[in-house]
Amino acid sequence: MNDSQKLIVNGCRRLEGELCVHGAKNSALPLLSAAVLAHGESVLHNCPALTDTDAACRILSHIGCKCRRSGDTVTVDASNVFGAEIPDSLMREMRSSIVFLGAMLGRTGHCRLSFPGGCDLGTRPIDLHLSALKQMGAAISEQHGFLECNAGKGLHGAKLVLSFPSVGATENILLASATAKGTTELHNAAREPEIADLADYLNKCGARIHGAGESVIVIEGVERLAPCEHSVIPDRIVAGTYLCAALITHGEVILTHCFPEHMNGFSQLFEAMGARIYTYGGGKMYVSGKKVNIAPPTIRTMPYPGFPTDIQAPFMALCTTAQGTSVFVETIFENRFRHVPELVRLGASVKTEGRVCVVQGVPRLTGAKVRAAELRGGAALVVAALAAEGTSEISGLQYIDRGYENIEGALRSIGADIKRV
Ligand code: UD1
Repeated sequence: MNDSQKLIVNGCRRLEGELCVHGAKNSALPLLSAAVLAHGESVLHNCPALTDTDAACRILSHIGCKCRRSGDTVTVDASNVFGAEIPDSLMREMRSSIVFLGAMLGRTGHCRLSFPGGCDLGTRPIDLHLSALKQMGAAISEQHGFLECNAGKGLHGAKLVLSFPSVGATENILLASATAKGTTELHNAAREPEIADLADYLNKCGARIHGAGESVIVIEGVERLAPCEHSVIPDRIVAGTYLCAALITHGEVILTHCFPEHMNGFSQLFEAMGARIYTYGGGKMYVSGKKVNIAPPTIRTMPYPGFPTDIQAPFMALCTTAQGTSVFVETIFENRFRHVPELVRLGASVKTEGRVCVVQGVPRLTGAKVRAAELRGGAALVVAALAAEGTSEISGLQYIDRGYENIEGALRSIGADIKRV
């Protein structure tokens, strides 16, 4: 796609100003699939323009929905859903294409799809999704790399217990159970804000979901869902990334259109590093990095409300220039340190041993040619390059564009010297 493009960053510019945070990718994608369940035209505002949301719209078009974008509003007309197959090429583009499974089973009772792709963070099984759907009455078989899923007489409610609070599995269960017969009780559900956002949308459409955002969710199945208008929540990971960028340059920024309460899992660590943070009503957050220099203690990625795995890489970039040693323990994904060798090229001192990384702060980073290997790791390279002396060249932008809308424009608007060539 944009594999030939590069970001050129001249580092050591202090970031200053006001920046608006776009809608959350990880909310927009399940919401776009949820629109399949609503008989008619749903309107999603604050929907980020990303390659992943484009891919979700192409899946919607493929199965018969009419999808159009105007600014940050996406309209999905799901009056007619006739396709039951998601082509391999679209499934491979992103892992979250798997959430179309619950929605399509709920709407048409049938779905044929291949195993999902997405960022390579290690093996990413979907056993929890499939086991839950089977317990709800779906027959699922695997042939030649394709999953054939049928809910002949419709899905029914069930008592489900997840062995791990998987975000995607929780989403698939909400989607599948919204119009299933009877009540579904889900234990050890993921508690991410994106789950609550999905439940909000479905409830506006007429679903009866109670407890989303908590560990136990109860879903009383309803006959049919009607479309509604909904606004996607702000992207807490994008907000966190831009804060890392501001703090590593000892800058001072105000984020607008963000929900600071969704960022408690990491904003306290910014403060432990010496940042000053004020939150205002109306989704505003002021952050000053003038005194940021203390390496934070051990950082362990955890399901929400713990420290998010998605902010691990940008936060590690921030720690590369702090005074002292930080230890990162990645508990969610097995292969999520692919940014480390590239950070080292930029002058960082980082050692990896399995799922643990030790970062020894250095006085300065130096510009270099680096390559993103996945989305958040790519964002980490941008954060580090902003603090590196001289010029850096970042390639692999097809990964960064999956989750950050016009990253160079956003950073330039607060004083970064960054351009795409
Ligand atoms: C979602 C997010 C992703 C984030 C992750 C964890 C989207 C589009 N993506 O991904 O950005 O990094 O949550 O916060 O929302 N697992 C299984 N079996 C399963 C499902 C998951 O073993 O059936 C394991 C995974 O391999 C992984 C862990 O559970 O080790 C977490 O996965 P999960 O919470 O499902 O993440 P995703 O929904 O893929």
